Amino acid sequence: MAINSLTQRPAWTALEKHYQEVRDLHLRTLFAEDPKRGETFALDALGIYFDYSKNRITNETLKLLLDLAESSGLKERTTAMFSGEKINITEKRAVLHVALRAPKGSSIVVDGQNVVPEVHEVLEKMASFSNRVRSGEWKGYTGKRIRNVINIGIGGSDLGPAMAYEALKHYSDRNLTFRFVSNVDGTDFAEAVHDLDPAETLFIVASKTFTTQETLTNARSARDWSVKALGSEESVAKHFVAVSTNAQEVSKFGIDTANMFGFWDWVGGRYSYDSAVGLSLMVAIGPEQFYEMLAGFHEMDEHFRTAPFEKNLPVLLGLIGLWYNNFFGAETVAILPYDQYLNRFSAYLQQLDMESNGKHVDLDGNVVNYQTGPVIWGQPGTNGQHAFYQLIHQGTKLIPCDFIGFSQTLNPIKPHHDLLMSNFFAQTEALAFGKTSEEVAADGVADYQVPHRTFTGNHPTNTILADRLTPSMLGKLVALYEHKVFVQGTIWHINSFDQWGVELGKALANRIVPELQSAEEPDLHHDSSTNTLIQRYRKARKA
Ligand code: F6P
Repeated sequence: MAINSLTQRPAWTALEKHYQEVRDLHLRTLFAEDPKRGETFALDALGIYFDYSKNRITNETLKLLLDLAESSGLKERTTAMFSGEKINITEKRAVLHVALRAPKGSSIVVDGQNVVPEVHEVLEKMASFSNRVRSGEWKGYTGKRIRNVINIGIGGSDLGPAMAYEALKHYSDRNLTFRFVSNVDGTDFAEAVHDLDPAETLFIVASKTFTTQETLTNARSARDWSVKALGSEESVAKHFVAVSTNAQEVSKFGIDTANMFGFWDWVGGRYSYDSAVGLSLMVAIGPEQFYEMLAGFHEMDEHFRTAPFEKNLPVLLGLIGLWYNNFFGAETVAILPYDQYLNRFSAYLQQLDMESNGKHVDLDGNVVNYQTGPVIWGQPGTNGQHAFYQLIHQGTKLIPCDFIGFSQTLNPIKPHHDLLMSNFFAQTEALAFGKTSEEVAADGVADYQVPHRTFTGNHPTNTILADRLTPSMLGKLVALYEHKVFVQGTIWHINSFDQWGVELGKALANRIVPELQSAEEPDLHHDSSTNTLIQRYRKARKA
């Protein structure tokens, strides 16, 4: 039987006791008792206004959560991460995405070496390449300029650049077309290139390991497509560049390592889009704006590293999430950006959070006896309002939500933005305060409808309101969630930086590939379900 110290710690048991006392408190009561709650349960930092007043917490809850953070060694572990200690113990690696945005001239030492100069060397190489593509100086094999850039990657080598490209599209060069191919389903590749001229198309193959089945399969199909049209293997040098930590595999694939942009094993895939993995983004928005984004990341890093816990955005966001996850039994968190440019943000956060904190064993190898990472989901408002908000308002599940919005739109077409933001404010208000059956009846609603039209309210939300979605703000928001994941992972005492859970499926798929491809009927040794499914697939495919 595993012994888990977390649930036995005084800070934890105090929270359990406190939960029993406040679990039924209603936000209506909390707001009525404290007319200034909406101002005091808020934090204004780095251009982000974080309103956490519509949460089922009191001052005592916050105090106890902060005690939990203190007693979990969060400060020490943060220092360990920022100073390059190998806190990813199962892979014996440092965890240094913060070094990717460390300013030139600063120093972070790993294995006796300051890594910051290397980071800036790669950034400069990326900047020079991006400028050449953007200006038309980098030409394709036939002499035509590059008009299309396709990033091939998956997981962290896709979601980050794809999300950030969408988020910052407003700042991108509209003469260039950007696409992102990730799925091993050939449809993804086929649809991405069907209307493109190979002579004008550049592929960025992004893979930390350069061994990922999906990425290499897509990269090979891309090379076949490109070389076939351009008529020579020599064209590869003009139409393919790589982003990887694995120079050997890059050159085995046929990409000149002169056209490779490196990064390091201390950058996790899901923490990597501000490294060379963001090359497609840099080509899209240009080096200057990419650097602005890095500065935003760095500002949040410094805030997280230095601000006292009670005024620390990632710490508060992490603790409030943990309160619902571990004490209220909430299983999920909805991320609801009210900005169409953030339409891939929740998909990005899914990998960031779920691959990081989807762990059932703690750092000492014990099976945990408490909940770890939540299910992350969501999509931009107002679309979600007409799809799944019904369940958040009136279903039986508790779903804490993060609402993210901006005071200024990048597309000022009247009256859209005021309408969008009126929904943004109305939703958190409705979720918190609901509508009582007395209020519903007073509206003259027929008796039989009253229970159906009653809103209990008391649904918790965070509101993140910033002025404008800029490259710097995107960096701050991503770093905010990166560190929120770190805060929670630290308290849960798990390794947020490995991802062994994806390995079994990969290994089994590799075993099945020859069984699908063999001309002979294969001798199948799976369970009866898998055997039957494979046989059916083989038969139907032949038909
Ligand atoms: O899904 C597992 C994973 O290793 C992710 O962590 C990673 O982001 C993705 O695969 C892609 O890996 P790579 O960049 O090595 O191709």
